[in-house]
Amino acid sequence: MIRYYERQKTFWLRGKSYDYVMYVNGAGFLQNLHYGGRIDENDLGELIRRGDLLCPPQNVNGELALDAMPGEYGFFGRGDFREPTAVIERHDGASMSRFRYVSHEIRKGAPRLKGLPHARSADATFAVTLRDDFSPSEITLYYVVFDGSDALVRYAELKNAGSEPVRLKRAFSFCNELPSGDYKMLRLFGAWATECRVETTQIGRGVTRLQSLRGVSSYGLNPFAAIMRDGCTETQGECYGAQLVYSGNWAITAEKSFSGSVRVQGGVNDFGFSWELGAGETFVAPQAVLCYSGEGLGQLSREYADFIRERIMRPEFACSHRPLVANNWEATFFDFNAEKLLPIIDGAAELGADTFVLDDGWFGERNFDNVGLGDWVVNTEKLEGGLKTLIERCKKRGLKFGLWFEPEMVNEDSELFRAHPEWVIAKAGVEPVRGRNQLVLDLTRPEVVDYIFNSVSKILSENDIAYVKWDFNRDLTEFYSASIPANRQGEFAHRFILGSYNLMERLTSAFPEVFFEGCAGGGRRFDAGVLYYFPQIWTSDNTDGFERTRIQWGTSLCYPVSAMSCHVAACPNHQTGRTTPLNTRCVVASLGATGCELDCSKLTDGEKAEIKSHIKNYKQIEELVLRGDLYRLSNPFETNMFCEMLVSKDKTKAYVAGEVFLGGPFGGYANVLRLRGLSERKTYKIEELDIIASGRTLAELGVSVPQLGDFGAWAWHITESEEYKES
Ligand code: GLA
Repeated sequence: MIRYYERQKTFWLRGKSYDYVMYVNGAGFLQNLHYGGRIDENDLGELIRRGDLLCPPQNVNGELALDAMPGEYGFFGRGDFREPTAVIERHDGASMSRFRYVSHEIRKGAPRLKGLPHARSADATFAVTLRDDFSPSEITLYYVVFDGSDALVRYAELKNAGSEPVRLKRAFSFCNELPSGDYKMLRLFGAWATECRVETTQIGRGVTRLQSLRGVSSYGLNPFAAIMRDGCTETQGECYGAQLVYSGNWAITAEKSFSGSVRVQGGVNDFGFSWELGAGETFVAPQAVLCYSGEGLGQLSREYADFIRERIMRPEFACSHRPLVANNWEATFFDFNAEKLLPIIDGAAELGADTFVLDDGWFGERNFDNVGLGDWVVNTEKLEGGLKTLIERCKKRGLKFGLWFEPEMVNEDSELFRAHPEWVIAKAGVEPVRGRNQLVLDLTRPEVVDYIFNSVSKILSENDIAYVKWDFNRDLTEFYSASIPANRQGEFAHRFILGSYNLMERLTSAFPEVFFEGCAGGGRRFDAGVLYYFPQIWTSDNTDGFERTRIQWGTSLCYPVSAMSCHVAACPNHQTGRTTPLNTRCVVASLGATGCELDCSKLTDGEKAEIKSHIKNYKQIEELVLRGDLYRLSNPFETNMFCEMLVSKDKTKAYVAGEVFLGGPFGGYANVLRLRGLSERKTYKIEELDIIASGRTLAELGVSVPQLGDFGAWAWHITESEEYKES
């Protein structure tokens, strides 16, 4: 809901449980009055009285009075000493600005952003235009509102309405002022094979900055932050989320002022950034998804999960069956031929998988990671008869066929590089940094995007391919393109990601029936921008049954479990060397889009039986994975046990899955898990335990943790029951 109170010049946005109120204050600035839990519209007068205290209108024209004003977009050089939201440098070098309200519009639905991933639908959009007092610059702030959701999408469009060019030195997407208080900031940090670890620190005075300078959203830090009010936990208290729908260099900052208020803002990273706007041109900053929860982090995550499924993912795949994949990577690495793969396909079918995915190594001279990348032509020496032989075998076994690509990359030892050395990101005279022996193609050049589109399209149209795994195995280092003029190199990083989005858009549109899975050496590019094109991402190269609990827990903070590819791998684990029971690996892999990452042709009968039953189990709970609500019960970072629970929206079904670690708790009255998310009034049966009890009792008294030994895991299936236990 969006309401305008004309006399008070107040705009009131309302979602499922938050209110967001702003007004045009006496000096003409757009000022925030409230963002948080529900308040009473009758109290508008009181809100305005409080707002006026923070910006006495009589002072703002010549006095330093803006430092305490909770603005909707911070501007530079006029007595607000906090970091601005935008910095616009004019042709004379000046960049002070003072943006005031000009006009607004309330529209139905969601705006479409050309070339950038965005919320696909919405109930209403509030667009408010501000103009600079000192230059012909305009900024339109967008607020995209969803009635049944606590997500609020924000972004900004900056326009040069003058006749001289201007240079944007910062153009963040949003500015969000939180009132004076004690806040903590949660972020997801990591590295290859340890993605999405959780760190929470107090927000102190000054600027706290999360960012990526890697050219991708990165596993260093995920483009997300939760700002938690004092006392906020998994299950209670207030918190705010800021998530960017963006996959390039990004920043999210939180600045605590002298008074204790916190300004949160973010968007395209301004470090190394500049963007020239010619007369009449606009720059559209990527969308940010803000979210409010009055019921702890758990609720924040459920709002994000719903939002991504309902508004970001391609609707035809968002809640559709996820391919049950058997992938050959950890089974063979580069060392395969048709003879080796055919039994793996047979094995995959026997296990109940429905898609076989051929990973890296099928093209060009690709027998190691230093050769062949970029040559998207089947290596028929390795695969006699081309992909057809494998596809035929898949069909015969009732499987679909999937294929790995790494479209944005190239090896120097490749036909592509030999033909077009100028297509890589490099600066003449500077030795390029290689990552995994490869270079990155310069996607700011349209001819490069065209080439990749055509060569990948050729493979996809000549073969019956149902699934694509799209990898991206290194960070960007040299932010430079010979095709961009010297004074505009600051545009490179953003232009690169626009090139990637263009490629993703073209390929997913040209092959609408193909299921695309994102990957970037695991979770290097796990973000809402990628999820707009690809509904699923390979969560991590780390397939260890213990490490995965932490990676999946962290990732679930702001992404749905259905976005996470979770495969069962062999032991000892390739990445950690650890051995965990097969059942444990299956249980952990059931909390996401599942599959296998092992040699399906070399399993013992016992292993086959366990994996078959895992796949059967996944089929049984898939609805919960696709559409359910996640409740995180035991935190693997803080305790030596992991447990999560999925509950259907109508609360008739649930699935609990957990693992105890070294020295973890075992059965007994002291070690109970209190189940959450069930209806207090309904009666439930826990199949495996033969327990029948009400949701209220299961939440209050909990259920004992089973006695399993180190790295043991369990799964419980819960259904609403008509039965009542005799007492
Ligand atoms: C990355 C991916 C793996 C695999 C390899 C292939 O590391 O994350 O799953 O596809 O590339 O080279």
